[in-house]
Amino acid sequence: MAPILETKNLEVSYGPVNVTKGISIGIEEGKIVTILGANGSGKTTILRTISGLIVPDKGTVTYKGKAIQGMEPEEIVKMGISQVPEGREIFQDLSVYKNILMGGFTRKDKKEVEKDIDRMYSYFPLLKERSNQYADTLSGGEQQMLVIARALMSRPHMLLLDEPSLGLAPAFVKKIFGIIKQINEEEKTTILLVEQNAKMALELASHGFIVLRKNPDVQEFYLGVREEGIRGTRRWKKKKVWR
Ligand SMILES: Nc1ncnc2c1ncn2[C@@H]1O[C@H](COP(=O)(O)OP(=O)(O)O)[C@@H](O)[C@H]1O
Ligand SMILES: [Mg+2]
Repeated sequence: MAPILETKNLEVSYGPVNVTKGISIGIEEGKIVTILGANGSGKTTILRTISGLIVPDKGTVTYKGKAIQGMEPEEIVKMGISQVPEGREIFQDLSVYKNILMGGFTRKDKKEVEKDIDRMYSYFPLLKERSNQYADTLSGGEQQMLVIARALMSRPHMLLLDEPSLGLAPAFVKKIFGIIKQINEEEKTTILLVEQNAKMALELASHGFIVLRKNPDVQEFYLGVREEGIRGTRRWKKKKVWR
């Protein structure tokens, strides 16, 4: 099956500094796929390039057969891709309810929007209980739920999640990963998950990609072999590496 989303040889620079080179990944419809890699290897950069926040110097991002690199982020949301950024950016002085509502800002079907908010409350009963509280009164784990709920309000076909488990207590990590699985199964949402928590991500994902820098130690850790000077991505299958 042709991938629903594909990047080919992406190159991205911040000013003169080239940070990603040769990023090629493919995600099949309906799957959960993970991107792993050390801190600073370019994982966030890849997600931001897919969602249109960064225009790559070279390479392509293809979604449902259409080249989308260089398109406006809003257009990309309308096409069905929604990103949950790292760091849980909430609107602190808005209520939980209004934060969720903001996720549907491109939609005109107000009645359906209300229905979707109820659906979010059924995924996240904790948010329903806290519906009228200011968002900054939520714990880290609850804020992560809030940003996921907000991203789902655009009814995405594909969800990009940037390190959703970062800094959360183990019980919340389990909960968040459970919900990601549920969303994938019930909403048929294709999921691209960036994680530091390799163990949890691998339990969830059908396959993944490792972003490599020129660091033989990192390569050895993930791939079990030392190769000098490779850069770019390697696709792996669970069973091969993680037995
Ligand atoms: N806005 C920016 N300006 C300059 N350099 C950046 C910027 N954002 C990220 N970088 C650099 O790009 C590299 C990749 O960053 P990032 O994509 O955030 O990695 P990751 O998400 O894997 O930790 C890092 O070396 C980082 O310091
Ligand atoms: Mg990052």
